[in-house]
Amino acid sequence: MDRQFGTMPGGEPVSAFTLSSDTGLQLTVLDLGATVQSIRVPTGAGTSEEVVLGFDDAAGYTSPDNPYLGASVGRYANRIAEASFELDGQTYAVSANEGPTSLHGGVEGFHARVWAVVDSGSDRLTLQLVSVDGDQGFPGTLTATATYAVDGDAVTIDYEATCDAPTVVSLTNHAYFALGGSDGGGADAHVLTVHADEYLPVTPASTPEGRTEPVSGTPFDLTTPTALGPRVRSAHPQVARVVGIDHTFVLRGTGVRPAARLEHPGTGRALEVETDQPTIQVYTGNRLDGSLAGHEGRLLRQGDGICLETQRHPDAPNQPSFPSAVLRPGQTYRSHTRWTFSA
Ligand code: BGC
Repeated sequence: MDRQFGTMPGGEPVSAFTLSSDTGLQLTVLDLGATVQSIRVPTGAGTSEEVVLGFDDAAGYTSPDNPYLGASVGRYANRIAEASFELDGQTYAVSANEGPTSLHGGVEGFHARVWAVVDSGSDRLTLQLVSVDGDQGFPGTLTATATYAVDGDAVTIDYEATCDAPTVVSLTNHAYFALGGSDGGGADAHVLTVHADEYLPVTPASTPEGRTEPVSGTPFDLTTPTALGPRVRSAHPQVARVVGIDHTFVLRGTGVRPAARLEHPGTGRALEVETDQPTIQVYTGNRLDGSLAGHEGRLLRQGDGICLETQRHPDAPNQPSFPSAVLRPGQTYRSHTRWTFSA
């Protein structure tokens, strides 16, 4: 089911597509930014609860202050230090949008574009974006697709991309989960498990230092179910640096496997995240500051949502010790993530 959601500042329409599963889960995706605008999970007796942060109008999403609510971010998710990298002996300057750093693809990243609908059904949707050679400074034309599907209590996201010249790519979804619904409390009300023995410490610019550190003995040890409240208030220098958790965790193993489990003891609701990606960025909504109103006109305050961004290593284009994020012609970039909700 699709409807007009609003318009871009230039008048181009923005559409919303609502996918429904057989168990009543409803996912609403915008063509703008291939954005998850809403996920409603059934609560019985014909009622449902909103479990992600979002805006109720297009203006929220087109604002430069949009904190990537539910967006598909790219061409390179997370940060590229000094907004520059070298590939095949050539240096590329990409769009800097956080001081000298490139965050989530730069000023006009994929989150800010209207993607084209290439396939649409009651339980699935494929959107496509062609990012031309030189877009935000990145080399090569990249053709990316995002496929959303719902089945039972699960949402799957598959990103794919091909290019016509060597480039770098990392795509992720930036949903902020709040499993207790609008009055359920934010990070403090959640318990998180992350299947990672190492994380990436960051510089004052929030770019990876380049080393991995064992989580053991740090506030980043989320290997067992952990209440987030005390962790985001730890005086550990890495927590203090970003006022909470805003770090990349290196996931154990390879292939599609469990990455994280977010629980909301207040309602008993849980979210299981599985992915084939090497890392997950855990972001506890540290920079939400009450200046924006989300669903139902409610202000988005610090910690109101938790992002679990499955991705390639941040700044891999500059970090020789990280797995390569280079995509070459003839290759297909793929990223698969599954969110399973339970009550
Ligand atoms: C980053 C945060 C950033 C946020 C933007 C997250 O993915 O890790 O540092 O502030 O995106 O909303």
